[in-house]
Amino acid sequence: MNIILLGPPGAGKGTQAQRLVEHHGMRQLSTGDMLRAAVKAGTPVGLEAKAVMERGELVSDEIVSKLIDAELTAMGDSVGAIFDGYPRTEAQAHSLDEILAGHGRSLDYVIELEVDEDALVERITGRFTCAACGEGYHDVFKQPRVPGVCDKCGSTEFKRRPDDNEDTVRTRMAEYRAKTAPILPVYEARGIVRRVDGMADIAEVTGAIEAILAG
Ligand code: AP5
Ligand code: MG
Ligand code: ZN
Repeated sequence: MNIILLGPPGAGKGTQAQRLVEHHGMRQLSTGDMLRAAVKAGTPVGLEAKAVMERGELVSDEIVSKLIDAELTAMGDSVGAIFDGYPRTEAQAHSLDEILAGHGRSLDYVIELEVDEDALVERITGRFTCAACGEGYHDVFKQPRVPGVCDKCGSTEFKRRPDDNEDTVRTRMAEYRAKTAPILPVYEARGIVRRVDGMADIAEVTGAIEAILAG
């Protein structure tokens, strides 16, 4: 199974991908996470991406497509893939077709998380993650069960993303509307787009996605 989770910043792509990884043993391929790891490690890709990400603009198509191809190679061809935050442009959508073919894979579904843009700024500015394991949380919608302690790994260190301020979020949304939303018709034409209500509770959204995957 190979699926794309598509939706604007804060739609819940990462949250749902993590849940599908836990319940179905699929692998999350988040170009945002890969780029943040590269920035942290100070690799050449990270040095190039850092300022672009802080502005909320898109990193080059070539860089992200290479990251995805390398990750698919590393994980082997039998594990299901959840693309989170990729593809984001028409050029990336085209590259993904070629990359998947090279790995003997094909796309099963493009799942669009439909959300109300006004809610997204609140979701994003309240977001934080475990510094040790990456589990995602929210000040209002998803606090750790024991305050200050990660549910998953017990760490007491958390972090927030440098691009999660209101100004940058507006730029990220504009980029989504201008460059990413236009790739949907390509997948519509193939009959593989499915829509879920991304404003529902986190668990309900997962249930809706699982119903799609179950066919
Ligand atoms: P990326 O990391 O992909 O960020 P994004 O697309 O802006 O999306 P987010 O991660 O902000 O949102 P999400 O949909 O994952 O939401 P989440 O589940 O966390 O990209 C970052 C940057 O990297 C880009 O701006 C760009 O510069 C670069 N980049 C990455 N990929 C690229 C590419 N392919 N090409 C070029 N550049 C690229 O949820 C948000 C919060 O809401 C969480 O706190 C969560 O707990 C909460 N929440 C989630 N679901 C619900 C719900 N149903 N109800 C209530 N709260 C909820
Ligand atoms: Mg994310
Ligand atoms: Zn943790």
